[in-house]
Amino acid sequence: MAATAKGDTAKRETATGETATIILEGKSYELPVVRGTEGEKAVDISGLRKASGFVTLDRGYENTGSCRSAITFIDGERGILRYRGYPIEDLAEHSTFTEVAYLLLYGELPTAGQLEEFSTFLNESSLIHEDMLHFFVGFPRGSHPMGILATTVASLSTFYPIPDQLDGKAERQILANLISQVRTIAAISYKKSIGEPIVYPSYRLRYVPNFLTMMFSSPVKDYRIDEDIVRAIDLFFILHADHEQNCSTSTVRMTGSSLANVYAVISAGISALWGPRHGGANQAVITMLQQILAEGGDGTEFIRRAKDRNTTDRLMGFGHRVYKSYDPRASILKRHCHKLLNRPGMTDPLFDIAQRLEEIALKDDYFLSRNLYPNVDFYSGLILRAAGIPYDMFTVLFAIGRTPGWLAHWREMYHGEDFRIARPRQIYTGPGARAWVERSKRG
Ligand code: SDX
Repeated sequence: MAATAKGDTAKRETATGETATIILEGKSYELPVVRGTEGEKAVDISGLRKASGFVTLDRGYENTGSCRSAITFIDGERGILRYRGYPIEDLAEHSTFTEVAYLLLYGELPTAGQLEEFSTFLNESSLIHEDMLHFFVGFPRGSHPMGILATTVASLSTFYPIPDQLDGKAERQILANLISQVRTIAAISYKKSIGEPIVYPSYRLRYVPNFLTMMFSSPVKDYRIDEDIVRAIDLFFILHADHEQNCSTSTVRMTGSSLANVYAVISAGISALWGPRHGGANQAVITMLQQILAEGGDGTEFIRRAKDRNTTDRLMGFGHRVYKSYDPRASILKRHCHKLLNRPGMTDPLFDIAQRLEEIALKDDYFLSRNLYPNVDFYSGLILRAAGIPYDMFTVLFAIGRTPGWLAHWREMYHGEDFRIARPRQIYTGPGARAWVERSKRG
């Protein structure tokens, strides 16, 4: 089999007129070449099976572009991340999470008036139906809040049924419900887990102070808003807001492609995020650092185990499918950790261990030769610890931050020209056809 690209003119439009030739069983096929706005190139194999009988096989979809998307651009070799064309560094420095959510959903930074209107709409949509509070009583004590979040978000579909005709107004309401209510549900699940009465969202507070107040104020203690903590959580949400076709976002697109209810679609995304190879890594990093602290070492022994193919240990928060250099989000979070932990009375021995681990790993040929660098999760748990967020809530905060990104991808897919049910093929490796055997004659 051979594939060659003809022509090299990068154009804004994806249909370039270039083709790739593929030779299979001596027969040659011309396949269209498509290019993205930043020069990424792909061979469009959609017609290959029909023409040749061949499908492509791609473990973990490492070489598969599953869609066209205008939301987020990543250059993993150069450590570049942009939302709708804006560098993540600029958004992290100048924007708020609410503004970034608007940008992801609607493609442009909002004007001051649009932002005000959007924030107000989010606030007006933040209460969950009062009957939903019964659910929280039913979960067993100690339930993981990601399980509660996934279940409760799916149940929103029963309280807020989606009209048969999804017009722009109904769609805007669903998007606002999800962005706002994911945060309310997260705070309620925390309050229930510690046996405190729930705190309702306030119309007067912005997105992040509202969340922190629902989490930390109680009838006997007001939560005093600390602007440094608000900034840290806002930054955390911005950095997690989207990351193109990662595991949970691909889950959202795949589930959504069946035309499933959008609340169920986001619940599926939350479930995919939970695993320790994905969003659950922010908890796993802290567990790893605590283990190193308890063992009293500097991490050398842990790194030895992470490199050993006979163990399942991995250096959590390291490595990435796309980034083959430092994840730009990790650099921003590391800088912010320094800032937050430099405040009087704020130290964290785990931050020192994390920096030491990074130093050792980035001098080690195992990590260097495989391009394994810190990813977003390496320092994010440390920021959350410094902000007083409980350990069990770390992945929930990732989910809150990622909700606008999931919704932007769902919306893009739903309104896009490529919209077809996602249905990959397989290479069957089981037994060939065989005769059914009587129960008494088996074994
Ligand atoms: C997120 O995709 C996204 O965009 C995700 C995300 C987002 O914003 O949505 O960025 C968020 O999920 C970040 C990743 C969080 N996960 C972790 O930190 C868990 C630790 N990392 C790894 O498990 C791993 O690096 C992955 C899952 C992140 C990526 O896996 P890949 O692309 O399938 O890479 P691989 O497992 O095939 O690894 C390649 C090689 C292997 O060694 P060899 O077989 O070539 O000898 O690198 C080794 C791996 O064993 N390796 C590691 C390692 N990560 C990869 N070895 C030790 N420690 C690690 N962390």
